[in-house]
Amino acid sequence: MKTLVAPSILAANFLRLGDDIEMVNKSQADLFHLDIMDGKFVPNITFGFDIISQIKKTAQKPLDVHLMIEQPERYLEAFKKAGADYLSVHYETCPHLHRTVQAIKDLGMKAGVVINPHNPVDLLTDIAKDADFFLLMSVNPGFGGQQFIFNTYSRIKKLKNIISDNGGKALIEVDGGVNTENAGLLAEAGADILVAGSSVFGADNPIETIAKLKVTK
Ligand code: DX5
Ligand code: ZN
Repeated sequence: MKTLVAPSILAANFLRLGDDIEMVNKSQADLFHLDIMDGKFVPNITFGFDIISQIKKTAQKPLDVHLMIEQPERYLEAFKKAGADYLSVHYETCPHLHRTVQAIKDLGMKAGVVINPHNPVDLLTDIAKDADFFLLMSVNPGFGGQQFIFNTYSRIKKLKNIISDNGGKALIEVDGGVNTENAGLLAEAGADILVAGSSVFGADNPIETIAKLKVTK
């Protein structure tokens, strides 16, 4: 089996977004990763529903929407309408996480739970069976182009055990500082989906870089 690859549109050229979407369509990438930031949960603001709907019109692969916003439960239906296929919420923003995960699934999307680098993965134990995927942040959320945090490898391994010990089937996604150098080790540790922004869109040959990020597990 090979890792799934989700290029992060945050690092695309927004003046030529159509071209970058076409490139991802043509590549071996599996998903489009879209980062939604509200300037409150994270110190940055990105884009919202209208841009997602535009992307949906040309994207030929599912949209993996990563919410870095407070009170995400207020907008689940709106993200579904805009075109999200995978929708993830941060553990840190959800006092009623179980309810929010169920609501995402009830809307017909894959439900993901994201956790920041400082939070122990054990916090996910009692939601392990319910989520369709977990996203481990391997940088502090808010910006692209940051340096990969090394404890991610051991966090993936621990989380993988937690998922299987609880009879879950969730995939593990890793986001932040992922590149062709660390992709192999991430896959070896148990990562299923690799998000990559600057390493893809900053590459001389993005299509080739995406192919290299698809590593055998
Ligand atoms: C960071 C975002 C990431 C970001 C990754 O908060 O969640 O998806 O776009 O960018 P790179 O791959 O450049 O670290
Ligand atoms: Zn992201």
